[in-house]
Amino acid sequence: MKVTIVGAGAVGASCAEYIAIKNFASEVVLIDIKENYAEGKAMDLMQTASLMGFDTKITGATNDYSKTANSEVAVITSGIPRKPGMTREELIGINAGIVKSVVESLLKHSPNVIIIVVSNPMDTMAYLAHKVAGIAKNRIIGMGGALDSARFKYRLAEALGCPQSDVDGMVIAGHSDTGMLPLTRLAVRNSVPVRQYLSEERLAQVAEDTKVGGATLTSMLGTSAWYAPGAAVSSMVQAILNDQKKMFPCSALLDGEYGLKDIAIGVPCIIGKNGIEKIVEIDLTDAEKAKFIESAAGVRSVNDLLTL
Ligand code: 2OP
Repeated sequence: MKVTIVGAGAVGASCAEYIAIKNFASEVVLIDIKENYAEGKAMDLMQTASLMGFDTKITGATNDYSKTANSEVAVITSGIPRKPGMTREELIGINAGIVKSVVESLLKHSPNVIIIVVSNPMDTMAYLAHKVAGIAKNRIIGMGGALDSARFKYRLAEALGCPQSDVDGMVIAGHSDTGMLPLTRLAVRNSVPVRQYLSEERLAQVAEDTKVGGATLTSMLGTSAWYAPGAAVSSMVQAILNDQKKMFPCSALLDGEYGLKDIAIGVPCIIGKNGIEKIVEIDLTDAEKAKFIESAAGVRSVNDLLTL
C-alpha cells in the first residue's frame, strides 16, 4: 500500500515518520521541489528503521511524480507555512498555485488516489482541490478537524488534570483561529460531560486556547507546528489504508449537509477505504448552528479570493 507525501518539510516528514513507525503502509514516497531534500529526509528516516522496528520503505524524489505512480493515498503539505503573526488565510496567493499543480500531477500518475489536503488555508485549499480535480467528492479530504480535536483534548485534559486518554471531544467548522467550533457541550471525561467538572468560564478558556492552538505554536516555534499535524494526518491515512471506518472531523465538500452547498468545511466524517464514506450530521444547538454558519461565511470569503 503506497502513500505519497508532497512536501518534505516538517509536517510531511513527521507524517512519513509516524506512518512508518505504525508500520501499516508498504511504501511512502516523499516529494519536494528542493533538489535532493526529499531524498535526504527519506534516507535519514530509513536509517531509523532497524532502531524503530518498521519495514515501510521510504523513498524521496525531487519533483518527479512518476515515482508516485499508483499511490492509494496522497497527502499535500506543500506551500509556505505561517510565520508568527500571520493567519492561515494570508497564504492563499502562493499556496493556491502550488496546490493546483500538485493535484494535477498526482492525478496524472495515480488516477484513483485519495487526496488529503493539509496546506493552508486548508478549507479553501481542499475546495480548490475539488474544483481542479473534478473527481468524486469522497476522494478529497481536508485535514484540520483531526488536529484541532487533538489540541482540544490536550486542553481539556490540562484543565481537568487528567490523562488525555480519559477525554473525548471534537472540533468542527473552519480550520482557522476564529472559525473553529470546539463542541464543549459534547465533550466528555469517561462518558461524563466535562461541564460537570469545569465552570463555563474554564470551558470557554479551553475553547479559546484550542482555537488559537496553531497560532500559539507558530509564535513559540517561529513557524507552524509539525508533530501534531503529522500525527493527525498519519491517523487519517491509516483509517483509509486499513479501512477502519473511523470518525474524524474533516473538511468535506458539502452538498446540502448542515444546510450548506459548494463549500469544504469541517464536519464529522467516517473515513475508510473510499475516503469520506459518510458525512455524519449531528444535532447542533441554535447557538452552535449560528457559529457554524458564521464560520462557513468566513471560509466562503477566502474561497472568493480564488481565481478558478
Ligand atoms: C496547524 O494548525 C498546520 O494548520 C496547521 O498547525
